[in-house]
Amino acid sequence: MLVMGFESSCDETAVALVERGCGNDRVISEKIKSQVDLHARFGGVVPEIASRTHYESIDLLTTTVLEESGKKLEEVELLSVTSGPGLIGSLLIALSFAKGLAFRTGIPLVGVDHVAAHIEAAFIGRPQIRFPLLALVVSGGHTTLFHLTSRFDIRVLARTRDDAAGEVMDKVARHLGLGYPGGPVLDRTYDPERAKEFAFSLPRMSDGSADFSFSGYKAAALRLARNHAIAPGDPRIPGLTSSLLSSMVGYLVRALVNAAEQHDINGVVVAGGVSRNTLLRRRLADAFDKPGIPLYMPEPEYCTDNAAMIAWRGYEVMRAHPDADYSPGYLNAYSRSDCGRRGPTKKNGSQSS
Ligand code: KG4
Ligand code: ZN
Repeated sequence: MLVMGFESSCDETAVALVERGCGNDRVISEKIKSQVDLHARFGGVVPEIASRTHYESIDLLTTTVLEESGKKLEEVELLSVTSGPGLIGSLLIALSFAKGLAFRTGIPLVGVDHVAAHIEAAFIGRPQIRFPLLALVVSGGHTTLFHLTSRFDIRVLARTRDDAAGEVMDKVARHLGLGYPGGPVLDRTYDPERAKEFAFSLPRMSDGSADFSFSGYKAAALRLARNHAIAPGDPRIPGLTSSLLSSMVGYLVRALVNAAEQHDINGVVVAGGVSRNTLLRRRLADAFDKPGIPLYMPEPEYCTDNAAMIAWRGYEVMRAHPDADYSPGYLNAYSRSDCGRRGPTKKNGSQSS
């Protein structure tokens, strides 16, 4: 089945074409328009700029994906689009575009949960993954640990009570004049020789909960910069950011190892933009370098926001709920989740389970 995916929940517009269910599962073509340059001077995503840029890009991206893959829109058998969570003005661009295509062509349209799709990205090229699984989604908007007994039976074990891990990297980098987004800069400038120059203590929940907290990291980094009079351009910055990254990675790895010890699982998935981080990938590979609990991380290009993961998951949603109604009139932003207890809407308008 040829599936076309659309993603515009934050600051990346993406369109992808994937082949599923024919014994040759693969990403045929993907085009991503990153808006990083447009938002960099503001130090974060400006929603109005994001949605306007999605609006200007999505048509051309779709045409290009079709042209480059040598396929025609009429050959596409399923359209899949992020229905949430995300910035509403951004979400609505891909959603309205995909609905328009679905109305015009009659191709079924499925709405996909963005966070579940990040987990799905680990399955691209890895059909061997087996449930139950632990999955950590760590990005600019989320740091959440899930337990999955199946693709659609997902339970939250722990989530950040404040900032997401990527958000802290972005904010600290911005404060130190390192540009936006901060995660890739911290990755590039990481120096293991300098990772102990500044001390960061591991966050601990006073109520003993397994939840995460990252705002303390941000406060500590800014305090250290102020106390040591570190301003943009200071040669001590790589020491500060390497120490910060090393501690945050250690915190995430420890949480995952603890959870893996407490659950009977067939594997661990780590996904989302921050899972692209070289140090995190290396430390996780070391921590899970033993038989029994395989570690699965998406290929780097499928860690950050992309449409291949949306198309991949859309196919799974349709396969799990073949009788649901996939006509475009039923789909709205945040209208329903594709996972958990409530499935997509059935043909009679009720929720399938
Ligand atoms: O998954 P994503 O593209 O968007 C959200 O759903 O949030 O993640 C974006 C986040 C940003 O905070 C960015 O700084 C971070 O992922 N990120 C990285 C790396 N690449 C992107 N963080 C650390 N190391 C990287 N190489
Ligand atoms: Zn994302």
